[in-house]
Amino acid sequence: MDQRKDVYEYQSKCSIDINELIKFSGNEKKKVARRRWAILAKALKSPTGSEPSSPTDEYSVRRISSFMLLQTQQLPSGSVSPTDARLLDQFNKRTWYSYSMLVGERSFSVHVGHRNRTFSAEDLMGFNNTGNICIWPSEETLSYYVCNNLDMFNDKKVLELGGGMSCLAGLYVATYGRPRSVTLTDGNKISMENVQVTLECNKFDCPVDSRVLKWNDVSFAEFHDVILCADCLFFDDARNDLIDCLWRTLPPNGLALVMAPERGNTLDNFIDQSRKIGFQCRKIVNYNDVVWSKRLALLDNVEFDDNIHYPILIEVTKS
Ligand SMILES: C[S@@+](CC[C@H](N)C(=O)[O-])C[C@H]1O[C@@H](n2cnc3c(N)ncnc32)[C@H](O)[C@@H]1O
Repeated sequence: MDQRKDVYEYQSKCSIDINELIKFSGNEKKKVARRRWAILAKALKSPTGSEPSSPTDEYSVRRISSFMLLQTQQLPSGSVSPTDARLLDQFNKRTWYSYSMLVGERSFSVHVGHRNRTFSAEDLMGFNNTGNICIWPSEETLSYYVCNNLDMFNDKKVLELGGGMSCLAGLYVATYGRPRSVTLTDGNKISMENVQVTLECNKFDCPVDSRVLKWNDVSFAEFHDVILCADCLFFDDARNDLIDCLWRTLPPNGLALVMAPERGNTLDNFIDQSRKIGFQCRKIVNYNDVVWSKRLALLDNVEFDDNIHYPILIEVTKS
């Protein structure tokens, strides 16, 4: 199969790009807030909107939906069930998928629930919903990166911030990385409900928990050796909160892996603001040969804009 052709065809059918949700400022804000809400509502209410991305999907809410590192397959009913019977109701409100990826000869696979579309108006107007639309490419490339570097999680306390509806990278670490413990978080309650029931449908050899965590919650100040964070740098209003949260939760010898596209100046702003409070940031553009080759293949595509689509890795440390 010519994968590139497939990607082109796929992308040309897509209708919503996250950048449409975020690139506005100043006087435009009010008008744009209404438009942004409408875009989100459309994506969240779409009966197909919650399906995982794949280059062969008929339709997606994103223009550049995937770097084709993940294979998704809907699981037949009965093939997965929650270990906690109290979650059966939540379990039944979801369609279940296996998310697998191949690293060399080894296959990594986890189960992820996708909430069937029952978002209320209150849900839609609540806390930032970008993490409920889909799993974004930064989470995908971060997942691929962690599966290629599992040794770095050995016996480590791991935290994911802003992990959205799947906290996929943290889920792979919890399943395959032999960490001491994993805590998966996001500020959105609906995302975390999905993560909670997803955790019940996967098996781990270490303690794994999930919780709602808003970055401005100063009561959360527990150190974690490795912190994961994907596609969370474009919120101008919350960037300082995210950096402060990293400061509270990263020990002097810890490492945060922050994955995000440049997206205008947002990634560089994160680096500048982080350095100001004492972090060291190492920006790594080519962090994996396979991801890099996917990027090179997309460069010819008129829909692909490196600045807004290619996730870059930042290693954040205190020392
Ligand atoms: C674009 S989504 C990325 C989700 C996921 N990491 C992915 O890449 O698929 C951004 C995430 O940041 C979360 N978020 C935004 N502002 C936040 C805040 N102040 N505190 C905690 N989470 C926040 C949103 O709820 C959302 O899940």
